[in-house]
Amino acid sequence: MPNDATGENIILTGFMGTGKSTVGRIVADILDYDFLDTDSVVESRYGTVSEIFAEHGESGFRELEHKVAMDLADRTGLVIATGGGLMLNPDNVAVLSASGRVFCLVADPEEIYRRLANSRKERPLIQVENPRERINELLAERQERYDQFPQIETDGRTQEEVADEIARRMTEPPLDGLGEVQTAPGLPGTAGGPGEVAEAVGEKIRQVKEKFTKPKK
Ligand code: S3P
Repeated sequence: MPNDATGENIILTGFMGTGKSTVGRIVADILDYDFLDTDSVVESRYGTVSEIFAEHGESGFRELEHKVAMDLADRTGLVIATGGGLMLNPDNVAVLSASGRVFCLVADPEEIYRRLANSRKERPLIQVENPRERINELLAERQERYDQFPQIETDGRTQEEVADEIARRMTEPPLDGLGEVQTAPGLPGTAGGPGEVAEAVGEKIRQVKEKFTKPKK
């Protein structure tokens, strides 16, 4: 059951390979939100990303992910990991940032290249002769649009540490910038001011860390 008393979604954007889905799941766990990944929603409705690109091109895929963005913006209590190109569309930015707070995960291009080494097949945009160069080109093209959101560094940190930062930032008043424009939210379902909220999140983070560090049987 999502803890959605404030109605604020948490939207994660950033380039492929920055860890949006893995981090998003942990944030959802910490804050007791539901988790959704826009690519998975697209795939459950229309077929794999690769098939859609092959049959309808990038523009066909962008239309389908826009439909998904519109649908998700009507919901609450969600952590939404968006495909790396979804928040480049100003219409998607408008609807999703009105539904919650947006954070952009960032990583060094070389690190991105390394992280994507085993999953390039599922990512049509980097199925090219020189993926390293393509990653750099796409990052340069997209930089300005990613920069409009609060940046979350992922290099040299565990995914739990990155998730902790996002969960903590949800207890603080938003900074300026798109997706960070509302007044200070309370943690959903938690009574009290920002101090108590931060304490509650701290406790939840400890519990989730314990869960993730427990040896698997
Ligand atoms: C894309 C990123 C992918 C997927 C599609 C296009 C992009 O998602 O939506 O291949 O334009 O950056 P991830 O960011 O989850 O890899």
